[in-house]
Amino acid sequence: MQPSVHEGTQAATTCDAVQVLTPGHHYDILIGAGLLGSAPAWQDLPRAVHAVVVSNPTVHGHYGQTLQRALMARYAKVSTVLLPDGEQHKNWTSLNLIFDHLLSTGCDRRTVLFALGGGVVGDITGFAAATYMRGVPFVQVPTTLLAQVDSSVGGKTAINHPLGKNMVGAFYQPQRVLCDLATLDTLPDRELRAGLAEVIKYGPIADMAFLDWIESQLDALLSRDRQALAHAVRRSCEIKALVVGQDERESGLRAILNFGHTFGHAIETGMGYGQWLHGEAVACGMVIAADLSAELGLIDHSLATRLRQLIERAGLPTQAPPMPMAQWFELMAVDKKAADGDIRYVLLSAPGQARMQAAPADVVERVIWRHTRDPATAAPPA
Ligand SMILES: NC(=O)c1ccc[n+]([C@@H]2O[C@H](COP(=O)([O-])OP(=O)(O)OC[C@H]3O[C@@H](n4cnc5c(N)ncnc54)[C@H](O)[C@@H]3O)[C@@H](O)[C@H]2O)c1
Repeated sequence: MQPSVHEGTQAATTCDAVQVLTPGHHYDILIGAGLLGSAPAWQDLPRAVHAVVVSNPTVHGHYGQTLQRALMARYAKVSTVLLPDGEQHKNWTSLNLIFDHLLSTGCDRRTVLFALGGGVVGDITGFAAATYMRGVPFVQVPTTLLAQVDSSVGGKTAINHPLGKNMVGAFYQPQRVLCDLATLDTLPDRELRAGLAEVIKYGPIADMAFLDWIESQLDALLSRDRQALAHAVRRSCEIKALVVGQDERESGLRAILNFGHTFGHAIETGMGYGQWLHGEAVACGMVIAADLSAELGLIDHSLATRLRQLIERAGLPTQAPPMPMAQWFELMAVDKKAADGDIRYVLLSAPGQARMQAAPADVVERVIWRHTRDPATAAPPA
């Protein structure tokens, strides 16, 4: 689908498109305000009798009806399954709610699933689509900034395990990603800031000009300026699409997208899912990872400082919660990037570049300790 001006059923909307080209599958990310109610945005999706919307009560309350109306124009039967809201529900129980619904309503291999919500709904729905009858088509309709700039793109789907985040999942690409910027109007401020963490991430790992732009437009982004958000979503999606197109299954390059995530996932799991938002944990993780990169001599300390200052300005945490050092290492060892027992970190290797490597435990420990909110509770490194 080419970028174009769409005449929507509710409102005309300007629509941008970014293509994701993986070896086995091509699809569009459509970006625009009012897309949910815009008939052309739903054209050319797989034909089926039955469409199933997966959402949660919060998001469905805002946008369920609009999506239902759009889908009724295309599918004879549209049903809905609502999952409990929150990261702590990204688990087997929620996944089974979807399977129960699909089986009890007679869904077959042609049934199309629509994930309406943030990254939690998107990740679970994608995993359900990947595994129901060994795979049914699905469409991502992300409604958080984080999901629009990151989680809905690239086909990583998963649920959490009590021992590790996103540990059970599959690579499975959607048929389309539909980012309606108007849905961001109702997003709580804390969630908007959490999404900005993943936007900021793309700068230091891939595009320093984008980092400059984010620094200059941060106030506009925080005040939800539509044009600024449109650019942030589009550029983030372009970078992610480029990376995923080269390394769909994370055998190398794609790991750079996990900058900050080794530390971030440890915080999320260690604090209990849902306590720290994913984007908050990643923000703090990026501060630690950038400092570690500087400490290892890969980048200048000024870049780590610059990143910390931007994250602070975005209202995101730069100090980790107190957690025993042994727990940090236990949690980081469960990370999917760990290989043969070695923890591997995504580090900045130059401004705008990142790579994955191991790091000496004593240096990691020193850096974590330096960024811990209440270091008195964690033993300082020797
Ligand atoms: N698959 C990937 O590649 C990938 C990448 C990054 C993150 N993730 C995952 O994404 C998840 C985090 O996603 P998230 O930050 O979107 O959190 P989320 O899905 O929990 O959504 C955040 C909150 O905002 C609410 N919400 C969503 N859209 C709203 C709207 N438009 N208006 C009002 N409220 C709205 C939700 O109900 C929820 O309470 C984590 O589980 C993380 O692991 C996956």
